[in-house]
Amino acid sequence: MQSAFFRFKPSRVIRTMLRMMGTDGDDSAARETEEIDSLGIYPAMTSSCILEPPPDGWKESIDWPEVFGRIAPLHLEIGPGKGLLLATQAERYPQWDFVGIEMRRPRVEKCAGKVTERGLTNVRLLEGPVETLLDTVFSAGSLGGVFVNFPDPWPKRRHHPRRLIQPQFLDCLSRLLSPGGVFRVATDHHEYALWIHEHMEKHDRFENQIEGLGYRTQGDEWSGTIHEKKFLAWGRSIRYFHYHRIEIEEGQTLGL
Ligand SMILES: C[S@@+](CC[C@H](N)C(=O)[O-])C[C@H]1O[C@@H](n2cnc3c(N)ncnc32)[C@H](O)[C@@H]1O
Repeated sequence: MQSAFFRFKPSRVIRTMLRMMGTDGDDSAARETEEIDSLGIYPAMTSSCILEPPPDGWKESIDWPEVFGRIAPLHLEIGPGKGLLLATQAERYPQWDFVGIEMRRPRVEKCAGKVTERGLTNVRLLEGPVETLLDTVFSAGSLGGVFVNFPDPWPKRRHHPRRLIQPQFLDCLSRLLSPGGVFRVATDHHEYALWIHEHMEKHDRFENQIEGLGYRTQGDEWSGTIHEKKFLAWGRSIRYFHYHRIEIEEGQTLGL
C-alpha cells in the first residue's frame, strides 16, 4: 500500500513557493517534502491507523473485530477535525474501539499524528464524506455510540439540504446503533440547534436524555474539541444534545 508520505508529495505551487523562499536546495521530491515538514506546512506523516480504501472504494462492511484484533464496543466520531477529542477518549477508554470519519485529508493526517504520538491502538480513521461511508462500512446494530461535534451549520436556507442532520441520516444511524446506543451532537449555531432538536424529536427511534430544555449548555466528559475551546473563548453559547437509540419492544420491527 502506498504510504501517506508519498501520497502527499508537495504540489507544484508549494514547490514554487519554497524556491521563492530560497529553501529549495535540490530537486529531489524527498528533500522537498522534508523541507516542507520542517516548515510545519504538513503534520508528521504517520498513517498506520488510517484505513485506505480498496482500489474500487469501500463496497462492504468492514470487519471491525478483525481490524482491531478483538471484540469491543465500537464508537464513531464524525468530523473529528484534528482529532483532539477522539485521541483523548481513546486514551481514556482503552477497552473501547474508536473510528473517526473525516472528509479532509490534512485533518485525517493530523488525527493520525495524535493517535501515533499517544501510542493508541484502538483508533482507526477513514477519509471521506460520512454520507457515502456510513451505511457501507458499519453493519446494523454494530455501533455503541456516535458523536458529532460542531457539524458545519450551512446557515443559508438554500444550503440546508447539505446539513448532516437529516431524516435519512437519522434513519441510517438508528439502524447502525445498537439498542441503547448513544448519539451526541453539539453546536454553537442557534438555528442549527433548533433544527437538530426538531429533527430528533420527530424521529421515533431516539430518546432525549436531557429533561427540560432538551439540551445542556455545559460540556461534560464527552466534550473538549478544538472548536469547542475556540467557541467558548469567543463567548459563544453551545448546546449539547444527548440521545439514546430506543430499545425495540417485543413485536416491534425495525426492518433491519
Ligand atoms: C467545524 S469542524 C469541527 C471539527 C471538530 N469536531 C471540532 O469540534 O473541533 C467540522 C469538521 O467536520 C468535517 N466534516 C464536515 N462535513 C463532513 C462530512 N460530511 N463527512 C465527514 N467529515 C465532515 C470537516 O472536515 C471538519 O473537520
